[in-house]
Amino acid sequence: GDMVAWNGPVSEVYSPVCMPDQTGTLQRVLVGSFPVAGPTEAMAALDAASAAYDNGRGEWPMMSVTDRIKHMEVFIGKMIEQKALVVKLLMWEIGKNLADSTKEFDRTVTYIYDTIDAYKDIDRAGSRFKITEGIIGQIRRAPLGVVLSMGPFNYPLNETYTTLIPAILMGNTILFKTPKHGSLLHYPMLEAFRTSFPKGVVNSIYGRGADVVPPLMQSGKVNVLALIGSSKVADSLKKMHPKSNRLRAVLSLDAKNAAIVLPDADLDVAVSEGILGALSFNGQRCTALKIFWVHRSIADQFTEKLSAAVNKLKPGMPWEAGVNITPLPEPTKPAYIADCIAEAEAQGARIMNEGGGAAHESLVFPAVVYPVKDGMKLYREEQFGPIIPVVPFDNIEEPLQYLINADHGMQTSIFGNDPVQIGQLIDPLVNIVCRVNINAQCQRGPDTFPFTGRKDSAEGTLSVEDALRSFSIRSVVATKE
Ligand code: G3H
Repeated sequence: GDMVAWNGPVSEVYSPVCMPDQTGTLQRVLVGSFPVAGPTEAMAALDAASAAYDNGRGEWPMMSVTDRIKHMEVFIGKMIEQKALVVKLLMWEIGKNLADSTKEFDRTVTYIYDTIDAYKDIDRAGSRFKITEGIIGQIRRAPLGVVLSMGPFNYPLNETYTTLIPAILMGNTILFKTPKHGSLLHYPMLEAFRTSFPKGVVNSIYGRGADVVPPLMQSGKVNVLALIGSSKVADSLKKMHPKSNRLRAVLSLDAKNAAIVLPDADLDVAVSEGILGALSFNGQRCTALKIFWVHRSIADQFTEKLSAAVNKLKPGMPWEAGVNITPLPEPTKPAYIADCIAEAEAQGARIMNEGGGAAHESLVFPAVVYPVKDGMKLYREEQFGPIIPVVPFDNIEEPLQYLINADHGMQTSIFGNDPVQIGQLIDPLVNIVCRVNINAQCQRGPDTFPFTGRKDSAEGTLSVEDALRSFSIRSVVATKE
């Protein structure tokens, strides 16, 4: 909507990056501040989005596909101009290293282009065709109304846009709440939204989720909830909607993705992919490998190799060359990791790599913990941080039963070389999780793949074409010949 002058409260944003103060104590660096919206501003944004949608009769939902694409292309041009600033803010606000921050930006631009391409072709591009004798039909992908979109701190740009962009393109109007960590980087884009789309199509809300989101949900005027975050938050928000059973939800949530390392696995591959999976962006990815089930015959050897490889990782500041372990944005995370380690040690596990778990305020060096067993936090909780639990197994039924009994079901990796054994695992696993990776880490990309999960891991499906479908409905025009 419109940019407004702000005289209300502001919230200070602290970086995960720490610097010593006068006394030499490490302190998180102040990066900036943002205006804190309250329920009144949130409801004003909702009114703007509802007015722009106007029950499907607004300029944007009525606009042709070709014209909406033109607006989106104008937006991409303006977005690209902001790259340097957004990448810098990604590093400062969430501590993502330079290479991955740049990748997050570029991947988002590619995602928008891919979404435009898919939109041109979806459902025969709205062409008329003979459905059956005597009926000419036209399938139109129609918008759903007002979409509330919220992304997570680990991909504050990319995963916000993963729902926001297809939702806009489909003719919906949008409210998006910026994440708790990774909010300032949305500022440079606000002017791009304002000048690329008609008034009221895109509305941003800065503020505490607990203050601004409940009144939006309780109003009953949000038609789609798009959230990438935790199942706990998703469940509580859905319940607030007066017609929660009718609310469409597009959700990407919890996961505890397992790697299963078979006795004949190439351990170098399992270790290199395992590290990418477990420790890219310090393990703060929903698709991260969060537990390793390793056959007992090779478990000691695998753990040693893994520990040696972890110790070659370079901790440091996000902008430093070659750094892959960076400060953690969540202030409570270092203590949580220390707690997981203490609990595992008390129950007989050990940190296998020298320096594993060592923390300097927000910067925590990854720990390989072995042998992990049921009863430890690391066995079931989604750690979302730099710590790798390794569980030895004797029978393949053990990891399978673990996954069957889990509350989530996103992805699994299998490491091994026997095609017959791997083949026998793939069939049950695709019915337990939603993606099986063979001799490879878990990940979302390529973004044209469906991205979803079972149980508490997801609702609906994201990734390019699926996302376009998630934010629209098929309306049919049927003409009698
Ligand atoms: O946080 C979850 C992300 O969707 C993971 O995406 O596999 O591309 O890192 P990624």
